[in-house]
Amino acid sequence: MTDKAVKLAVIGAGAMGQNHIRFIQEEIGSELAAIADAYEGAKAIADKAGVPFYQDPTKMMDEVELDGIIVVTPNHLHLPIAREAIKRGIPVLVEKPISDDLEDAKKFAEECKEAKVPVLVGQHRRYNPFVNAAKQTIDSGELGKLTVASFHYMIYKEDAYFDVEWRRKKGAGPILVNLVHDVDLLRYLIGEVDAVQALSSSAARGFETEDSAVVNVHFKSGALASMTLSDTTASPWNWEATAREDAQYRPFDADAYFIGGTRGSLSLPRLQHFSYDGEPSWHKPLQMDIKPVDPQLPHKMQLKHFIQVILKKEEPIVTPEDNVKTLETLMAIKLASETGELVSLG
Ligand SMILES: NC(=O)c1ccc[n+]([C@@H]2O[C@H](COP(=O)([O-])OP(=O)(O)OC[C@H]3O[C@@H](n4cnc5c(N)ncnc54)[C@H](O)[C@@H]3O)[C@@H](O)[C@H]2O)c1
Repeated sequence: MTDKAVKLAVIGAGAMGQNHIRFIQEEIGSELAAIADAYEGAKAIADKAGVPFYQDPTKMMDEVELDGIIVVTPNHLHLPIAREAIKRGIPVLVEKPISDDLEDAKKFAEECKEAKVPVLVGQHRRYNPFVNAAKQTIDSGELGKLTVASFHYMIYKEDAYFDVEWRRKKGAGPILVNLVHDVDLLRYLIGEVDAVQALSSSAARGFETEDSAVVNVHFKSGALASMTLSDTTASPWNWEATAREDAQYRPFDADAYFIGGTRGSLSLPRLQHFSYDGEPSWHKPLQMDIKPVDPQLPHKMQLKHFIQVILKKEEPIVTPEDNVKTLETLMAIKLASETGELVSLG
């Protein structure tokens, strides 16, 4: 394949799908070729973009010449649609989480390996340059042996958000809806998870689903982490308010993650790196450095990567197999919060 703009279709033109449509239109390496959405009203979006509209994604895949598709439907529809694309040899970018069904996600990961059609999972924070600068610092050993970390997702979703019934029901709380991003970065930055404990509460809103939770994590390396999450807490200590990835959130000069090791510690996204000159000691003055990083919008970086994957110049950074591990960790956290037990993985 030559390097002319790759032809992409978006399946699911809802809130996030419309962002992907805009990213494709703004990226010189890609061209929007079609849109599919089960809802007839979405045709207006395709008309405005000047591309064909389909209510049936498989019909679209059969009729339009495509180099790749982006699946942005509700989670339970990700895999049936991705399987149709793989059958036709079309590379896929599938939104996170890969599925809401762990067993089916595992099966799909195996199918992808056999089919040899590239599938990228949309964990866009992996492309954030501040995250990758942190990863470099950690991997270089500058923090020493990782000991403890704390990850915070404390945010207030407006009350009207919960006017939709399913958002008040079991399973719709922040553990399954929001924590996927933080768990993905936890694994990426610190390593694979061995076991989790969790407590949840619905005392603030009184819904069937949790509004707040705390999680303890034990990593295979022996490191430990705690995660504090709540969608009913008025605070800036969450990724949205600190990472400057999305203009709809007022940015705060604060951090959401704190990662510590025997020789230093690091905050994210501000990248404040604390260490001692020479041997560490609590009686010596700590010094603080900040690595300079050029900000980039992670969703746009993810699209550039997907284009390179289609052109066979790069391998997918987040594979289905990788995302299964994030899903496994999330499900373990959910189970731990329901049973109060320590839940081991794998
Ligand atoms: N990475 C991110 O930053 C991010 C942010 C938000 C949402 N998401 C993910 O994006 C996905 C969609 O979320 P959303 O908030 O845009 O949801 P949404 O409900 O706003 O949009 C989903 C769209 O899919 C369409 N749809 C439903 N069934 C379909 C089918 N069978 N074929 C084609 N289209 C169908 C719906 O009509 C709707 O337009 C989810 O997987 C979510 O986790 C990712």
